[in-house]
Amino acid sequence: MKAFPLDRAFQFIEPGPTILLSTSYKGKSNLMTLSWSTVIDFTPIFGCILSPGDYTFEILKKTKECVIAIPTVDLLRTVVDIGNCSGIDTDKYTRFKLTAIKGKYVNAPLVKECLANIECKVIDTSMTGKYGLFVMEGLKAWYDKTRKEQRTIHANGDGTFKVDGRTRDLREKMTKWTSII
Ligand SMILES: Cc1cc2nc3c(=O)[nH]c(=O)nc-3n(C[C@H](O)[C@H](O)[C@H](O)COP(=O)(O)O)c2cc1C
Repeated sequence: MKAFPLDRAFQFIEPGPTILLSTSYKGKSNLMTLSWSTVIDFTPIFGCILSPGDYTFEILKKTKECVIAIPTVDLLRTVVDIGNCSGIDTDKYTRFKLTAIKGKYVNAPLVKECLANIECKVIDTSMTGKYGLFVMEGLKAWYDKTRKEQRTIHANGDGTFKVDGRTRDLREKMTKWTSII
């Protein structure tokens, strides 16, 4: 083993798929790319880390709702482009030819071209100032199982990405966790 830069150590802790956060404020919808997210519990509660420099940061603080959209590898270039421009001066749904669909519980739209969408409300902003952490509760989940491409994108944090591989089925070993299988 050799020393590894501490500020790159996060790359070993798989941050889950790179997602799009869809928001809406005063009739204007926006998207940002986000790789720093986590599941907090099964109910489900999620955590997302946003920089205060992101336009979405302000919108989430105001509206307290969003959609977590899960893109697949066919959208990778678009996902990177969405994360390299701002909703302040760009209508990203139009620019990237993405289709906004109305959800059930929140004003933020679902993204039709994504594999899955989760409507969320922000339930805790107590660590937003210190860590940029928004804690969200999922209200409704949508999944396009007819989609041929199902492989999600996983950011390495330096502009390179891993793509989902094979699924390995070890359900018979999950004896302690039968209620979630
Ligand atoms: C692959 C990728 C991952 C990103 N992950 C995050 C993240 O986890 N948190 C964050 O605040 N910004 C992240 N960004 C940067 C935002 O997507 C970027 O600042 C974006 O322009 C914000 O859009 P907005 O100003 O319209 O909100 C990421 C960008 C890319 C390309």
